[in-house]
Amino acid sequence: MDKFKNAGAVITGAGSGIGRQLALKLASLGASLAISDIDQDGLDQTEKLIRDLNSDAKVVATSLDVSNREAVFAYAEQTKNDLGTVNLVINNAGVALSSGTLIETSVDDFEWLMSINFSGVLYGTKAFLPILDNASWGHIVNISSLFGFIGVAEQSAYNASKFAVRGMTEALRQELELANSHISCTSVHPGGIKTSIAANARVAKELTEDDTKLREGFEAFAMTTAESAAEQILAAVLKDRRRLVLGMDAKFIDWVQRHFPNHYQKVMQWFITRALAKM
Ligand SMILES: NC(=O)c1ccc[n+]([C@@H]2O[C@H](COP(=O)([O-])OP(=O)(O)OC[C@H]3O[C@@H](n4cnc5c(N)ncnc54)[C@H](O)[C@@H]3O)[C@@H](O)[C@H]2O)c1
Repeated sequence: MDKFKNAGAVITGAGSGIGRQLALKLASLGASLAISDIDQDGLDQTEKLIRDLNSDAKVVATSLDVSNREAVFAYAEQTKNDLGTVNLVINNAGVALSSGTLIETSVDDFEWLMSINFSGVLYGTKAFLPILDNASWGHIVNISSLFGFIGVAEQSAYNASKFAVRGMTEALRQELELANSHISCTSVHPGGIKTSIAANARVAKELTEDDTKLREGFEAFAMTTAESAAEQILAAVLKDRRRLVLGMDAKFIDWVQRHFPNHYQKVMQWFITRALAKM
């Protein structure tokens, strides 16, 4: 992990969950950090945790809404000045919508989610690519999901956003290789990670009893901690992986959808029904 010592690292959505753990791990490895989030309180807590861990850590914390295109491009320029060199950009900020069929989900809610989970990643990637070009090495990590491989009932907006992140990142990876660039990128596909994402999800429709169970039971049901997710993401950067499928649940379901592309949807329905029965 020496590669990260003195590297300049940018993490969006660092006020909670996976983003916070990435920030803490990178700070412990001696990276200079630009952390951001739309949630100022969460961001302040992350900054404090970093300073408690390493009082010498270089950390710049900025309130940023990744769905605001002008703000993200201005932030990238500001970060270049703040850090001097930027090597690693982790487009991590993301949101969820509590269950709702496509019919029940309003176009406004669908577009709200896309503006953060997809456009936020697009802006972060586009704004930082020219800045990474000036560094001796550069890497972009875009956080997609297991739901970037499989469609799941009542997750159409989240699915659309995470499929889009995967498609864009895989295309970018090939473009960078064809151009012999010193910049690389990785698409990350977590399964269930113990974070607040489900509890903070925007509600698309009135919640049923099952929806409430899934929302409240998510952290217990998720198999992987945010700390372990952060470690695996940084290890994937070191290995220059194209794709990281994160967690046994994600690996199993990814295997199922690759081997049974026409039948995985039935397996998913069985999986969710069993999980609900156990809650
Ligand atoms: N937790 C999981 O099971 C899981 C699974 C697959 C993928 N993911 C993805 O991992 C990423 C991190 O999620 P997490 O699980 O740590 O959730 P989390 O809710 O703990 O953290 C997400 C962070 O993003 C921030 N955020 C939300 N909207 C924002 C905006 N417009 N601008 C800037 N920041 C914003 C939130 O304030 C929060 O701090 C997300 O992209 C999520 O979709 C999570």
